[in-house]
Amino acid sequence: MMIAKLGVGAVLAGVVTGLSFEIPAAVPANASAQIDAAPVGLSFEFFAFPEYFEQLPLTDGCLGVLGDAYGISPPIRIGGTTQDRATYDASLSTAVSYTVASSDDAPETLTFGDSFMEIAASYGGSVTIGFNRRLDNITNTIAAAKVATSTIENLYAIELGNEPNFFTSSDPIADGQSWTATTDAASQVEWQAAVGQALDTTSIIQAGVFFGLGSYEVTNLVGAEEDTNATQYVRSFCHHYYPYSASTADLDGLMSHEAIIAGVTEFQAQVEAAHDLDKEFVMGETNSATGGGGGISPTFGAGLWILDYAMQAVILGIKQLYFHQGTIGNCPYCWWDATVNAPFYGAYAAALALGGASQVAQLDSGDTRVAAYALYNSSGAATRVLLYNSEYYTSGTRSSVNITLTGLASTGTVSATRLTGDAATTTVGAGTITIGGQTFANGTCALQGPQETETTEIENEQATLTVQASEALLVYL
Ligand SMILES: *[C@@H]1O[C@H](CO)[C@@H](O)[C@H](O)[C@H]1NC(C)=O
Ligand SMILES: *[C@@H]1O[C@H](CO)[C@@H](O)[C@H](O)[C@H]1NC(C)=O
Ligand SMILES: *[C@@H]1O[C@H](CO)[C@@H](O)[C@H](O)[C@H]1NC(C)=O
Ligand SMILES: *[C@@H]1O[C@H](CO)[C@@H](O)[C@H](O)[C@H]1NC(C)=O
Ligand SMILES: *[C@@H]1O[C@H](CO)[C@@H](O)[C@H](O)[C@H]1NC(C)=O
Ligand SMILES: *[C@@H]1O[C@H](CO)[C@@H](O)[C@H](O)[C@H]1NC(C)=O
Repeated sequence: MMIAKLGVGAVLAGVVTGLSFEIPAAVPANASAQIDAAPVGLSFEFFAFPEYFEQLPLTDGCLGVLGDAYGISPPIRIGGTTQDRATYDASLSTAVSYTVASSDDAPETLTFGDSFMEIAASYGGSVTIGFNRRLDNITNTIAAAKVATSTIENLYAIELGNEPNFFTSSDPIADGQSWTATTDAASQVEWQAAVGQALDTTSIIQAGVFFGLGSYEVTNLVGAEEDTNATQYVRSFCHHYYPYSASTADLDGLMSHEAIIAGVTEFQAQVEAAHDLDKEFVMGETNSATGGGGGISPTFGAGLWILDYAMQAVILGIKQLYFHQGTIGNCPYCWWDATVNAPFYGAYAAALALGGASQVAQLDSGDTRVAAYALYNSSGAATRVLLYNSEYYTSGTRSSVNITLTGLASTGTVSATRLTGDAATTTVGAGTITIGGQTFANGTCALQGPQETETTEIENEQATLTVQASEALLVYL
């Protein structure tokens, strides 16, 4: 039987000490659908996007490192709160124009010009771009959408408004009326049809763009789409997901495999509602915690969260996830700024696991803090296994778990790349974090230092690997 079973009967006071997983020889029925070529992408806050691409050397370097792991540049989305503060100005010679009191602030209002789209067009991966709906100037948004579609060859979709669940009756789009999920749905479909018709294009809008779950949900929006025949203009639906805020921040909870499964599964009905209309579902903007992260966002544990969260999202049928990058210099969850930050190590590990893979199956039953995934290639052969021990480690004696993989080839070895750090709480600059023994150079994002690959003998079609608390291991079969 191909079931994950506890090894040595070994559960001591809830702590797993030994586990065994049989690698299904054929892709199991509960595996994901076809994995997108680069499921883990990035979202750049609208006003900061030109600065990321023109003034931060690590942007090119780190996107390149991820692109090498996937074999294709990761997708990006340009948007966020400031997309709904931004007005297109065809006469603007710079990409963006705004003033802020402090470099830590996001602007309250800004304009952007054609060179904004040219920067987006120069990126080698697919681009989703979000324009304004809140200010109720559809003429302006259509003008911007026309330039985007004619300039950005790799354009995937256009968003119309960001997180409309936060719009209020005093926003111009509300026209003095109360703003509800129902008024938003009516507004979304009206704008989709107007923009789609102006562009003479269908399948161009990324709809929804809701923060979290509640009455503003894809499950509610799809009715308005179908009733008004606006579905044809939609390419994808999306929600935004931040499991924590500064006030609820909990790194132990963020990293927990069981909690990650529970959090991702909450979006199941939204994903299904999109798929029922033959549309993609993406997590259009996501990160660990809003409002500065309460200390958890820049940690190695947040990197481990990215890795397990990406696997769960892909298994649920989410095409892509876009990890948000905000104001440069004031962004605890950012993958890079002046340094390559701890979360990037998890994002890179996810790229090593998912790159070139066709399907992923969860082998563990989801009720312990240890995760095991098998990655299958397009011939249906298991080629990698990802192991994640999500036990929260900060200091003192570090626990570990021995994991036996069964159903392997009869002889030979498996090799493995370890993602580890001093502790879950470690940040870059305050301790060591490595992947395969290497670190990312702050200037270029290039891997540096000697690469360490661990080799384990296969005996009786089995190999046993040790994974410490707050650590992951990518095993190459
Ligand atoms: C998926 O199927 C495999 C093979 O049958 C099984 O080992 C694993 O436990 C299942 N995963 C889940 C999450 O039930
Ligand atoms: C709306 O946008 C148009 C075209 O971009 C511009 O001419 C007009 O001034 C804008 N209207 C308002 C109220 O800002
Ligand atoms: C919906 O739009 C399509 C494409 O424009 C059109 O062929 C169809 O007749 C429309 N259906 C309704 C009910 O308006
Ligand atoms: C999939 O992996 C198997 C086992 O390593 C290999 O024989 C096969 O050629 C691979 N298929 C592809 C398409 O790479
Ligand atoms: C893992 O296996 C090694 C080698 O057999 C053993 O020394 C170690 O105690 C085991 N660890 C756990 C947590 O069982
Ligand atoms: C990057 O910079 C940080 C902070 O100065 C430093 O601690 C870290 O070691 C640097 N990383 C590498 C790989 O040199």
